[in-house]
Amino acid sequence: MHPDCERILLTEEQITRRVKEVAAQLDKLYENRKPVVVCILKGSVVFFVDLIRNMQTPCELDFMAVSSYGAGTTSTGELIIKKDLAADIRGRDVLIVEDIIDSGNTLYHLKKMLNKREPASVNIVTLLDKPARRQMPLEPEYTCFEIEDEFVIGYGLDYAENYRNLPYVGILKRSVYEK
Ligand code: PRP
Repeated sequence: MHPDCERILLTEEQITRRVKEVAAQLDKLYENRKPVVVCILKGSVVFFVDLIRNMQTPCELDFMAVSSYGAGTTSTGELIIKKDLAADIRGRDVLIVEDIIDSGNTLYHLKKMLNKREPASVNIVTLLDKPARRQMPLEPEYTCFEIEDEFVIGYGLDYAENYRNLPYVGILKRSVYEK
């Protein structure tokens, strides 16, 4: 285990098993369709890659980078698009792949923005959900794990751009972010 980790929350094995289950559910949902599967950079990249490798459904891949002003500010309505989709999603089935949902601000606004482009459908799959932190009415269609309000790192998730390549989800030691 990484020395900055307090403990491992989700092991590689737990994640692998759950990702396979969710991939199978998505295969059923998208039977005979070809969704545009959207990776929200950067945190989702590890989950995205594992998820699509476990899906049998033919799909297109696309990438977006966004950031939202945090909850509690006066500008929660704003979403900054740092990198937009390459695909025209009009009439397409869109699957947004996210690593974690916290306040819900990012995905609430992203979903609203993508819906204006008139896709056939927009669904969200998230690796982690912290429902206790929710500030916006946003429910993902698929969640791999609901977790408590802990500072999690690894499997794509970072603290100050570190730890994304850890193969498990761990809880960061308080001493790391309080120093
Ligand atoms: C994280 C995560 C979501 C967002 C969730 O991204 O990937 O996009 O925060 O928080 P919210 O529900 O409160 O909006 P982050 O901005 O940390 O970027 P990163 O994926 O590049 O690390």
